[in-house]
Amino acid sequence: MSQPCVNIGMVGHVDHGKTTLVSALSGVWTDTHSEEMKRGISIRLGYADTTFRKCPNCPEPQCYTVEKTCPGCGEASEELRTVSFVDAPGHETLMATMLSGAAIMDGAILVIAANETCPQPQTKEHLMALNIIGIKNIVIVQNKIDLVPKEKVIEHYHQIKEFVKGTVAEDAPIVPISAQQNINVDALIMTMEEVIPTPVHKIDKPPHMLIARSFDINKPGTPIKKITGGVIGGTLTEGVLRPGDELEVKPGRKVESDGMTRWEPIVTKVSMIVAGKENVEEATPGGLLAVGTTLDPTLTKSDSLTGQVAGLPGTLPPTRDDLKLELHLLERVVGVSDEEVIGPIKTSEPLMLNVGTATTVGVVTSARKDIAEVKLKRPVCAENDSMVAISRRVGSRWRLIGVGVIKD
Ligand code: GTP
Repeated sequence: MSQPCVNIGMVGHVDHGKTTLVSALSGVWTDTHSEEMKRGISIRLGYADTTFRKCPNCPEPQCYTVEKTCPGCGEASEELRTVSFVDAPGHETLMATMLSGAAIMDGAILVIAANETCPQPQTKEHLMALNIIGIKNIVIVQNKIDLVPKEKVIEHYHQIKEFVKGTVAEDAPIVPISAQQNINVDALIMTMEEVIPTPVHKIDKPPHMLIARSFDINKPGTPIKKITGGVIGGTLTEGVLRPGDELEVKPGRKVESDGMTRWEPIVTKVSMIVAGKENVEEATPGGLLAVGTTLDPTLTKSDSLTGQVAGLPGTLPPTRDDLKLELHLLERVVGVSDEEVIGPIKTSEPLMLNVGTATTVGVVTSARKDIAEVKLKRPVCAENDSMVAISRRVGSRWRLIGVGVIKD
């Protein structure tokens, strides 16, 4: 499999079929955590790579496949490109995870189940997130068409059209499919090829990696001599990374001394890189990577480095304990039945902020109409002018209320 060159997000309301669709396209079931299997929902970000292929003989859309041998005529198919899917959870309590996934999506598939009226709360909240984060290349999938008669599918199509009016997905194509029965998945691949292009990346810059997951891949009881170093998973936004490169991870690790808490960057070395299921000598931006390091794996276990950034020492943006944000708030809260008006941000209120793949909570120390200053509980490493998704506590949940732009 060649290296993935684009990240495609799977977003949408809980149980609408995101994980099933990733599985239909890649053969990988991304819910592997025991709690996810028990509860039947995705909790963490899942990811899977697949290569889109085309049969030289068959007509469109039947010629589009992920199989090496065309299922229609048995001819060998030709490789188009390898993509990485980022499977976001759809449950309303997991919006922070969805937002950290959205930070690494180049395009997205909004999965909407045809057997429920549209929009469901997180259909709306996820589309709003794509809208304000600025993910423009969107394909809408009308899933589970095997469960409803044709007239209902058409009625549901009109509901979707009405719902996306005035949003970033207004002109997004709508592809009716059954992920479970593998119906029309070829047409979906064709549409992704048309609507979600491979972005042009700056590979002449130093490597900059957003960390989405981190792992300790050693089995309990592994003898010390056989222990593999910590693994970080994520995506390069620019630059090229190679085994042997020195790597700095920021903000790094929390150090307590003399009653004070500091964050110290971690410096390590890249021992191996896996992209598209293979070890590579050079990783380029676009898809998802797993980077093996020489770190003590206790530092990377259970996603403990999620939200941090990695790059060559000395090249990363500053670590920030405070953020000054230029505010762009929405008019109403979405994702709830009672869509109340969003009032101004107030001093002392807690906010949840998503910066790149990082989720942090902060307290507002000063607020004016268009600018707020926030003291963070956990620092973030981010460039001036980066975008931040802002959520506020409404009832017992964090709700997306707008975006901010970091100003020095
Ligand atoms: P979260 O990640 O937890 O938000 O859920 P999800 O959107 O990933 O949904 P998932 O893929 O786990 O599917 C939920 C249920 O719907 C499962 O029982 C699937 O088998 C079923 N399902 C998914 N796609 C289809 C489909 O096309 N037809 C039918 N009949 N069932 C489907």
